[in-house]
Amino acid sequence: MNQEFTKTIGMFDSGVGGLTLVSEAQRQLPREKVIYFGDTANVPYGDKSTSQLIGLADSAVRFLIQRGVKVIVDACNSTSSVALDFLKETHDVPIVGVINAGVQEAVDKTENGRIGVIATSATIESGAHEKEAGKIAPSVKVFGQACPRFVPLIEEGRTNSLEAHRAAHEYLKPLQEKGIDTLILGCTHFPFISHVLEGVLGPSVQLVNPAVGTILQLKNLLEGEGMLNKSEERRNFELRDHEYYVSGDPEAFKEAAEKLLNTSLGLVYQIAIKGGETGEVVR
Ligand code: DGL
Repeated sequence: MNQEFTKTIGMFDSGVGGLTLVSEAQRQLPREKVIYFGDTANVPYGDKSTSQLIGLADSAVRFLIQRGVKVIVDACNSTSSVALDFLKETHDVPIVGVINAGVQEAVDKTENGRIGVIATSATIESGAHEKEAGKIAPSVKVFGQACPRFVPLIEEGRTNSLEAHRAAHEYLKPLQEKGIDTLILGCTHFPFISHVLEGVLGPSVQLVNPAVGTILQLKNLLEGEGMLNKSEERRNFELRDHEYYVSGDPEAFKEAAEKLLNTSLGLVYQIAIKGGETGEVVR
């Protein structure tokens, strides 16, 4: 009998950002358990080169495969932008990225055809959102803005700080001047500061959190492959029931994550990723 459906879902990001997808999975797929890896020893990913990002994403995927996951969500725009094709070609496990769903939703929502994307420098330089929009709706205009100061602030849980507000004003001004009516949160950390962004943009610009569409794609994939969890024993999972691994300090991750999510996470393990091969639990 195919027992694939009882396995877990793997997700990875550079740090706390991918937790926005874990939260969304809990909403749409409450019977699925998640194994999460935050590569906090290497955060931020946004200033890394393409080859570095491919190497880091590959290590994360290998670690999750080793933990026996049935599917992986690349819960990072920076790696989804430059490493997804490589990961899909290299590994047999299905891998879902975060670029397509956000662009699709923004294209559906925009009325004036002018879409903004805020993201890391790596994502903006890759042009991934523009390329995706070019395939889906070539007439739409996409304006990108790199926002390198946001990720360190969010990793520290400083989502209401003066620095976050100042940076938001500075980063959003050029996009407002372009007349956007829709903004893709093109970094999985950014839904944690959506209140700050909304405060600057006001009601005339709608925000798109790609987590929603990405988890819907994941749900459709699991349904289509007969891999949705149908086990009778399984109850609904809370955020604290998932497994969390980081490559940096587990306490710092737990503290920031619990503040951002406003809930307890349970245990966070530290792992050492060696030579892109395996993840060994060190504490
Ligand atoms: N959350 C990630 C993203 O979506 C990475 C942010 C970073 O580490 O710079 O791009």
